[in-house]
Amino acid sequence: MEDRMIDTLGSFKDKWEKNKRLAFEETLREGSEIFNWILQRNGFENPEGFKRYLRNKKRILDAGCGNGRVTALLRRYSQMSAEIVAIDFVSSQIAKENLEAFGLSRGVVFLQKICLKISQNLKNLISLLSGGSSSPIGP
Ligand SMILES: C[S@@+](CC[C@H](N)C(=O)[O-])C[C@H]1O[C@@H](n2cnc3c(N)ncnc32)[C@H](O)[C@@H]1O
Repeated sequence: MEDRMIDTLGSFKDKWEKNKRLAFEETLREGSEIFNWILQRNGFENPEGFKRYLRNKKRILDAGCGNGRVTALLRRYSQMSAEIVAIDFVSSQIAKENLEAFGLSRGVVFLQKICLKISQNLKNLISLLSGGSSSPIGP
């Protein structure tokens, strides 16, 4: 692994371990500033549009899930039959604990893995799911 990547993942590890629930509840609160920001920056005008987009999705990837706040949104607004895969190299366990605490972990698989060699299409998907605060690291 490159030094740059080690540093970045190290900072994220620190961030999530110190703030396991950072912005988690606010993200889930429909109508909150963070909730609206995540939807709007991903092209959804309202929760109904988000739900409509997710309606036929059978598998949803949240690559770089952090503490799971967006994974939780995806769980709440997708159909229960959809499988959600939440990946993070440093915080998949924190995401799992958070979703369990909020009763939103059903059908969600949490993986502690590094996402590398991401194709452009997948990058677009990741950008959508990650809440856009930054892109995942990868070649
Ligand atoms: C900016 S945070 C976004 C977290 C979350 N999606 C959100 O919106 O709150 C990016 C997350 O991606 C993870 N990450 C970055 N690059 C990664 C990679 N190549 N493989 C796995 N996880 C990665 C980091 O550990 C961090 O938790």
